[in-house]
Amino acid sequence: MEKHNETKTGAFLSPDEIKRQLTAADRVRLRFASQGKVGENAPGYYILTFGCQQNEADSERLGGLCVSMGYRRVETMEEADLILVNTCAIREHAEKKALSIIGSCKHLREKNPGLLVGIGGCMVTQKHRADKLKNSYPYVTFTFDTGAVHLLPTLVAEALSGGKRQFIHSETYEIAEGIPLDRTSKHMAWLSVMYGCNNFCSYCIVPYVRGRERSRRMEDILAEAKMLIADGAKDIILLGQNVNSYGKDLAVSENDPDFSDVVRAVCALDGDFRLRFMTSHPKDASDRLISAIADCPKVARHFHLPVQSGSDEILRRMNRKYTSAHYKSLIDRLKAAVPDISITSDIIVGFPGETEEDFEATLDMLRYVQYDMIFSFIYSPRPGTPAAEMENQIPHEVSTARFERLLALQNEISRQRNERFLGKTLRVLVEGISKNDENMLTGRGDPVRPIHFAGSRDLIGQFAEVEIEKITPFTLEGKLV
Ligand code: SAH
Ligand code: SF4
Ligand code: F3S
Repeated sequence: MEKHNETKTGAFLSPDEIKRQLTAADRVRLRFASQGKVGENAPGYYILTFGCQQNEADSERLGGLCVSMGYRRVETMEEADLILVNTCAIREHAEKKALSIIGSCKHLREKNPGLLVGIGGCMVTQKHRADKLKNSYPYVTFTFDTGAVHLLPTLVAEALSGGKRQFIHSETYEIAEGIPLDRTSKHMAWLSVMYGCNNFCSYCIVPYVRGRERSRRMEDILAEAKMLIADGAKDIILLGQNVNSYGKDLAVSENDPDFSDVVRAVCALDGDFRLRFMTSHPKDASDRLISAIADCPKVARHFHLPVQSGSDEILRRMNRKYTSAHYKSLIDRLKAAVPDISITSDIIVGFPGETEEDFEATLDMLRYVQYDMIFSFIYSPRPGTPAAEMENQIPHEVSTARFERLLALQNEISRQRNERFLGKTLRVLVEGISKNDENMLTGRGDPVRPIHFAGSRDLIGQFAEVEIEKITPFTLEGKLV
């Protein structure tokens, strides 16, 4: 696989190009209007999103473009006239799931010959995957890579006019400002501060499918934050693959803003909201950022700091560029500055060559840090990445057995960590009705674990005070104060 090393950084898509797309969207809307397809008769769009928050954020932009073309959001694929699948490539499982859903569009297309099926996201940014869809999935109308989200209106307009199937491999990763949003949650909002990744961790596909790091301008971030707050957002999540690199590509002097300045500037905006951010790379997480968390009450007392492994040899071969000692010292400083912080991590089990000793070092890291929660993954070789070529790939049974041991240890730690909340009153953002009991509400106090409690549905989207009465490793239960 080719490395997209040439991608320009800090490059912005020209406002003219964005205008061209919005004009194309207008033309589609007028076309539907002339056919009486407005209001309840408007054609339906359905977006299925795989993968991380970055994809969720892209999908809200795809949705915004659909709305500007005159589509209305529908709840099922069966009702849709335009289906978009926003794919992920992080592990083989994510690709398999996407391919199976895309396969199910075949019979929908047979029932509705006018149905358009568009596939975007990280999976189809790999050319061999886009080629496979082109050759073996004839009911796929178009594909577009992660650098071509803004092209949706032209792709739809041309498809509606009977144009040929299109497979866009733009390989340009420019920042597109001014694309409308169709937000899917009233109270939660994604806010990208930067895109792409320069780190090339040896197991990871992201740098190959998201281009190099590029930062949005502070004024654009703040304008979007204000818009989100005015639109009712109470839980704003700043996004980037490595938020601590924010600004490096834009900076001309040392005084230019870094990520901690973004955090402080967003917190300084008026409004009652909670601010979170992800993800931080341990090699770049700074004391300035730790101070910003300590100083700004609106920032959630939570730090997601993926360690991946506790073994220095594995970290070296993962190309993570830090040692377990560096990571531990960062954790020590974080806990000293923000004593009530919840820390979470991503862990990969079964990286090529991982010995029993290496794995034990990861377990020791869990014991040392006392994470509130971890997201753990069995290593999945990604074609084109260096780790996929490494010797000593770990047999699946070995990885699975280690994975189980990791979870068992973390469950015990999570349960112990949750004990500190018993009898305490937490400020909870009420997110919705509990999945298990429709008389209960669910929300989050810090961003880590769901909190269940009885209360009126009017509270959804508001902050409430909840006294914690019961804990499990994964959830808290309590009553409204
Ligand atoms: N930029 C973020 C992570 C994005 S991917 C960061 O650096 O933290 C989310 C997580 O998926 C990673 O932290 C890693 O734990 C996991 N992951 C990435 N590639 C993987 C692979 N090939 N196999 C298994 N897990 C992987
Ligand atoms: Fe992948 Fe590493 Fe970049 Fe995270 S920092 S997206 S794990 S290459
Ligand atoms: Fe997946 Fe792409 Fe995110 S590979 S995890 S959707 S950046």
